[in-house]
Amino acid sequence: MSDKARVAVFLSGAGSNMAALLHASHLPGAAYEIVLVASNDPAAPGLALAEAEGIPTFALAHKGMSRDAHDAAMEAEVLRAGADHIALAGYMRILSDGFVGRWPGRMLNIHPSLLPRYKGLDTHARAIAAGDTAGGVSVHLVTPDLDAGEVLGQLAVAIRPGETAETLAARVRMAEHQLYPHVLNRYVARHHDSDWLLARVRKLAMAMPEAEERDSHGAPGFRTSGRSGKFFAYFSDRHHGEPHIALLAKTSGVDEMTDLIARDPERFYRPAFYGASGWVGIVLNRRDTDWDQVAHWIARSWRSVAPRRLTGLLDAADAF
Ligand code: GRF
Repeated sequence: MSDKARVAVFLSGAGSNMAALLHASHLPGAAYEIVLVASNDPAAPGLALAEAEGIPTFALAHKGMSRDAHDAAMEAEVLRAGADHIALAGYMRILSDGFVGRWPGRMLNIHPSLLPRYKGLDTHARAIAAGDTAGGVSVHLVTPDLDAGEVLGQLAVAIRPGETAETLAARVRMAEHQLYPHVLNRYVARHHDSDWLLARVRKLAMAMPEAEERDSHGAPGFRTSGRSGKFFAYFSDRHHGEPHIALLAKTSGVDEMTDLIARDPERFYRPAFYGASGWVGIVLNRRDTDWDQVAHWIARSWRSVAPRRLTGLLDAADAF
């Protein structure tokens, strides 16, 4: 089965951003596919565009419906399409907190300003009126607060003398079409991106008391500090020709390592060199990596090498 993210696009209008997302999804190496285009306006030109390209569409006028009922119908369609992400692209309805809350980190929006400036409407006119030298566009995660979720990417567009909201909007639109596919692609592919994975591992490892990072045989390693410091985690980016990006953590010994691999061979493996002394490889570059489990292994591994002086402190803190 394809490991691509499955994206539903919501729109209310022309659908030029939807088209940009769709065409980019056909490029080699694209990490997502568009599985549904849905709208609150059956007459939205973007729907016809999607239909012509063979994408399943869904339209439901919101007039006369409560927000919750309309959202529920849209969400049901998204789930039916098997989508795992929603990309808002000119969807001119505010979604209920309940809906947004069920898609944390999986719903994106494009907004025509350099957030946090100019949330809401009339962004270009407001930027010009303020005398800004640049407007622009942002792609952000959707949270219940309007246009306030984490910004994932931005492009600035120069404001020229005599600029009108219309001329600026037209040029910002070109920037939108570049930015949205790029950011969406990078975002859904982050589970396979070694920089992103290393940053997550580093954050967990460095949160252990007196941890320090030090390269070991060309791979990032994490150890307890001091003269007698010992490594408790390694980050392996396909090291020694292995196919995985992985965390190496210390088990109680070869028996436990072998047992883990037997039970879940997709997730655990015997790493070259380290396997002989009971280190296990935990595959990270999967969409469904369980980061609580990764955190657990880092903490356990740290505990097995940390001096008593430190583990004792932690035990005391745990007892509270
Ligand atoms: C874009 O300007 C986008 O930034 C905003 O709504 C507009 C949608 O345009 N959220 P289109 O329907 O994608 O052409």
